[in-house]
Amino acid sequence: MRVDVITLFPELVEQVIACGVVGRAAEQKLLELHCWNPRDFTRDRHRTVDDRPYGGGPGMLMKVQPLQDAISAVRQQNRDARLVYLSPQGELLTQERLAQQVRLGSVIFLCGRYEGIDERLIQREVDEEWSIGDYVISGGELAAMVCIDAMTRLIPGALGHDESALQDSFSDGLLDYPHYTRPEEYRGDRVPEVLMNGNHRDIENWREQQALGRTWQRRPDLLERIRLDARQQGLLDEYIAEFERTRKR
Ligand SMILES: C[S@@+](CC[C@H](N)C(=O)[O-])C[C@H]1O[C@@H](n2cnc3c(N)ncnc32)[C@H](O)[C@@H]1O
Repeated sequence: MRVDVITLFPELVEQVIACGVVGRAAEQKLLELHCWNPRDFTRDRHRTVDDRPYGGGPGMLMKVQPLQDAISAVRQQNRDARLVYLSPQGELLTQERLAQQVRLGSVIFLCGRYEGIDERLIQREVDEEWSIGDYVISGGELAAMVCIDAMTRLIPGALGHDESALQDSFSDGLLDYPHYTRPEEYRGDRVPEVLMNGNHRDIENWREQQALGRTWQRRPDLLERIRLDARQQGLLDEYIAEFERTRKR
């Protein structure tokens, strides 16, 4: 999957492929990252990349011409990719949306800085706007890195075990179940017995019930978006009954 990033801080974005899952995917050529710096497209001696906003007010905007030229240069190499502006005003990202993008293929990320970019540039060039959450960060770079990391996990072959992405929270609309590792007893708390008995069917059932129960407790909004079959509803009812029972004690 090819990802182009237009950014004033390529050295920051390039860190996303420096280590871990994303680094390995880049080494295996499953992910190809290209950064483009609008500063390289400036035409003045000072290599100016910011400009004052019309109407006054605090802060600067990204200068239009270097951005426009950077976009045109990327487009020459990657004509068909969608251009996504990372923005707090964009569509709130979900695992589903990122998975869809991985299926579609390459993408161009545009990282804003200062107060953002000229609205006409957004109207003319940007296909979509994506937000990583209802808060404001100083630039689109961290947002692009979040997207690159999350998308890479979904590229077939990028994870050691393909299954682990499938088991992650959100992939089936539910939160992940709780995990345990050694020691068997930690400060008096034991690992749930069912995980120790080696019965795979019991373990699967328990994990599914925990995933359902956790989602019910922490993110009931997610449950409203999926349809549970009778077996899953049974598991959830059992979880809720047990929860109510222990609460009343
Ligand atoms: C300081 S912000 C500008 C915020 C803008 N004035 C607003 O309130 O909509 C600078 C840049 O950071 C990026 N950014 C900030 N918050 C973001 C978020 N939640 N998701 C994605 N990108 C974000 C955008 O690229 C934005 O242009």
